[in-house]
Amino acid sequence: MALVSMRQLLDEAAKGGYGIGAFNVNNMEQIQSIMEAARETKSPVIVQASRGARAYSQDRFLYHLMLAATEIYPEIPTVLHLDHGNSPATCISAIDMGFTSVMMDGSLMEDGKTPSSFEHNVAVTKEVVEYAHARGVTVEAEIGCLGGIEDGHGSGGSGLDHVTDPAQAEDFVKATGCDALAIAIGTSHGAYKFTRKPDGDVLKMDILIEIHKRLPTTHLVMHGSSSVPKELIDIINQYGGKMKTTFGVPVEEIQLGIKNGVRKVNVDTDNRLAITGAIRKVFMETPEKFDPRDYLKPAREAMKKVVAERMVQFGQAGHAGDYTSKPLSEMAEMYKSQLVSA
Ligand code: G3H
Ligand code: 13P
Ligand code: ZN
Repeated sequence: MALVSMRQLLDEAAKGGYGIGAFNVNNMEQIQSIMEAARETKSPVIVQASRGARAYSQDRFLYHLMLAATEIYPEIPTVLHLDHGNSPATCISAIDMGFTSVMMDGSLMEDGKTPSSFEHNVAVTKEVVEYAHARGVTVEAEIGCLGGIEDGHGSGGSGLDHVTDPAQAEDFVKATGCDALAIAIGTSHGAYKFTRKPDGDVLKMDILIEIHKRLPTTHLVMHGSSSVPKELIDIINQYGGKMKTTFGVPVEEIQLGIKNGVRKVNVDTDNRLAITGAIRKVFMETPEKFDPRDYLKPAREAMKKVVAERMVQFGQAGHAGDYTSKPLSEMAEMYKSQLVSA
């Protein structure tokens, strides 16, 4: 089995009316958690690596771990996606390494912080679409900017500062031919998204629904979609952590999104919380232990539990065997003959 096209997974998800979690990884244990959850729930998977993850892992290590995943879990359609590529050069280096999908986040300038112009965004996205599609690789783009800056991506400030303009989203998809579109509806990356359970004033599901009405066949992507469950924060604090009260995106809001064109749901923070809580527990309860396996195994298990739960909640569970994955060469032919469009 090879790593496969994200476009095919998203097209299938649209046919089946479900969403697919895209989970961030930096190391072997996180990849194993996702693949085990996928096997258990029979789910197609999107594994994604940020620029930070590529630097941390020396991305060739990560790439080869992903090839191992396809050997060990041949029944699972598996995508390797670049999260928040900041320039065409970053996306091209990922494609050349073997990533089967990239995000060209031209909503921000190359620094990953400064909101860009519509024209800049269209230009860099088009450049990546051309390079990627010729190789059968999928492109996610973004219009509007996420809030926050907690983990290095985002425009700063509140998630409401740069909410997507639905009319602009429509023009953007027409102008770029991207495969999937990330939109900004009030969320931000990291644990501190909302100070109370979000309602329509801070989480703009109405904007998402409006975008879906204008672009009914475009696969929408929700970033910053960790739910930040209180139970995971409580475990961290119970075992010596110091996290403040915070709220994420409720699963029922994500499910409403999935009913309205959301096909890819980005989750990183919930897994970070699960891993940290599990490791803290071992450290506090058995301080005499020093074998990394003693805390990495429970950490892996805790992340697997979160991922499996999300796979069921997003509806991807049970769909791993629905279709035969197309090789990238076939996808490239399909893009060339315009059998796939935005
Ligand atoms: O885009 C945000 C993801 O949570 C990745 O975060 O840049 O710290 O790896 P990172
Ligand atoms: P969270 O921080 O909510 O998990 O979002 C992750 C994300 O959007 C990665 O691109
Ligand atoms: Zn993101």
